[in-house]
Amino acid sequence: MKLTPLKISEYKKDNRKIAMLTVYDYAGARILDEAGIDVLLVGDSLGNVVQGKSTTLPVTLDEIIYHAEIVSRAVDRALVVVDLPFPYCQLGDKEAIRAAARIFKETEADAVKVEGGENRESTVAALIDAGIPVMGHCGLLPQSIHQSGGFFIQRQREQLLRDVKAIENAGAFAVLVECLTPEIAKEATELLRVPTIGIGAGGDCDGQVLVFHDVFGYVPPENKRPPKHVRQYADLKNIITEAAKNYINDVHNSTFIVNGQFPN
Ligand code: KIV
Repeated sequence: MKLTPLKISEYKKDNRKIAMLTVYDYAGARILDEAGIDVLLVGDSLGNVVQGKSTTLPVTLDEIIYHAEIVSRAVDRALVVVDLPFPYCQLGDKEAIRAAARIFKETEADAVKVEGGENRESTVAALIDAGIPVMGHCGLLPQSIHQSGGFFIQRQREQLLRDVKAIENAGAFAVLVECLTPEIAKEATELLRVPTIGIGAGGDCDGQVLVFHDVFGYVPPENKRPPKHVRQYADLKNIITEAAKNYINDVHNSTFIVNGQFPN
C-alpha cells in the first residue's frame, strides 16, 4: 500500500524506524521500492553524484522535475519526496509555492523538502496551506554552503532546537537533520512529535537517510573511501570495474562471441 506523509509521520507514534535513501532513476527506484524502502528522496545531491558538480546549487527546477517524474512513476509503495532546489524558498513564499506546484503538476511526487529552520517557518506554512506536504531539513544546509563556509558538524544546540521546533510548528510531517552532534539530534528527536530523519546525526533519530551512490559504492575511481557518516553496503565501483575489464578483454580478444554463441 502506498505510503503517505501522514503514515510516515505516524511511524514515530508506532515506534517504527524510517529507512530513507536518495534515488534519481527508474531502475534504482524500482529496486529500492521492491526492497521495501519507506521514503525515496529525489535530492538536489543529484548535482554532486549524477552531474559531478561540487555543490547542489546549480541544480535547476527542470532537472529535479525530470528525475522526480521518472522516480515517482517507478514507485508503488515508497513515499517520494523532492528537494525544492536553490533558490525558490530563498525567493519567498510565492516562488516556493510556484516551484512546488510545478513539481506536483509534472510528477507524481508526494512531498517536497525545504532547507532551513526558523527563517523558513513561514514558507513551510505557506506550502502546507497550499496543500503541499513538506519535509523540513535542518542542521547542515548544503544550499547555504557559501554562507556557512563548509561541511561542519552542527553544534549550536539552542538555535538547532529552535529550528526543528519552528519547522514542526509550521506543519512539516518530518524533519531531516543533517550533521548534528548525536546528543543534539537525540534531544531534537525527543522534542518533536514528528519524526527526525538523520544523516551524520547519530543513531537516535527516528529514521536514517543516505545518498544512493554512497551506500552502494557507485562512486568515481578517485573516491577512495566513503565520508565518515556513510555506512557502505555494497561496492559497485569495484564490481563494475571488474565486469567492464572482463567485457573489454573479451571484445579485444575476440572471445565475446565464440562460434556464434556467448561462451557460458
Ligand atoms: O539532496 C540530498 O541528497 C539530501 C541529503 C541530505 C539526503 O538532502
